[in-house]
Amino acid sequence: MSEQPLNPTTAPAPHSGATADEAPPTEAPGTGSVAEAPTADASAVRASATGSTAADVPADEAATLRAASFERARRLRQEPRFPGGPAADPAGSHHERRIRSFQPRRSRVTTGQQEALERLWPRWGLDIDGRRVLDLDQLFDGLPVVLEIGFGMGEATAQMAADDPGTGILAVDVHTPGQGNLLGLADKAGSTNVRVANGDAVILLREMLAPASLDGLRVYFPDPWPKARHHKRRLIQPEFLDLVAPVLKPGAIVHCATDWEPYAEQMLEVLTAHPCFENTAADGGYAPRPAFRPLTRFEGQGLDKGHVVQDLLFARV
Ligand SMILES: C[S@@+](CC[C@H](N)C(=O)[O-])C[C@H]1O[C@@H](n2cnc3c(N)ncnc32)[C@H](O)[C@@H]1O
Repeated sequence: MSEQPLNPTTAPAPHSGATADEAPPTEAPGTGSVAEAPTADASAVRASATGSTAADVPADEAATLRAASFERARRLRQEPRFPGGPAADPAGSHHERRIRSFQPRRSRVTTGQQEALERLWPRWGLDIDGRRVLDLDQLFDGLPVVLEIGFGMGEATAQMAADDPGTGILAVDVHTPGQGNLLGLADKAGSTNVRVANGDAVILLREMLAPASLDGLRVYFPDPWPKARHHKRRLIQPEFLDLVAPVLKPGAIVHCATDWEPYAEQMLEVLTAHPCFENTAADGGYAPRPAFRPLTRFEGQGLDKGHVVQDLLFARV
């Protein structure tokens, strides 16, 4: 069974079956840790393998297995983790046989993040369900809009929103704790120019953005996927740029940054080769970090390891 490329331009093939490593992991209840969900009959299967009966499985272990099974079923129904909050896999994209740029994970959400999600998601959040084209004018009250893919915990995004209230930021990530964190930070700063989108940015670009609707794209420190066998998961690839180009206005800036030198080289190569983009750096190389881009959390970790950070700014022609 061959995997589809990262950014297929074809419509999703629902229920075509996910590969094992793309099946959504779930959290073992009460532990805050990430674990593969066992099937409903896991205890029975294990019991039969050990020659015991399901009734011999300790009660607390059986309860944990049952809870994990319920959790898996909940995710398959795409129900939110919190009342009125972001949906689990809103586009049902784990049914698409497609290489993803992120590893599905379910990390612990702090009380503050949960509070922010419950209180602020209905007002400032949106699920990437792949079922509608967004009216960005309406969503951002007529502001010019930049898309930021992969905001992580959102500190830099909140800072940029506060520094530039005249620009709307459509901030996308799959990471629930980060979504709560960004909502909380933007709320604390009194910013009204951030919308937090939950889900895979590829589906947003492919199905939910109108042509020439964005004034810019920011991709700061995307997962570097350093192993050769994972390079296909890197976001910045020719097919990704094919999805990006039509939704950008002429002159819109694609701004990428990375601390992973081989990925920086890949970004420079594919952006330079793409006919819809032109390097703003006069020498055709990397650009100095613009003053508006704050240091990000991931960047800080890279700098601590002695990595060199590169910014790339390309204009949509
Ligand atoms: C390495 S982190 C960088 C976070 C942040 N920009 C920073 O510099 O600290 C990359 C983030 O991109 C997100 N991500 C990767 N692929 C994505 C996709 N296709 N759609 C939405 N988010 C994605 C991941 O969940 C992760 O939070």
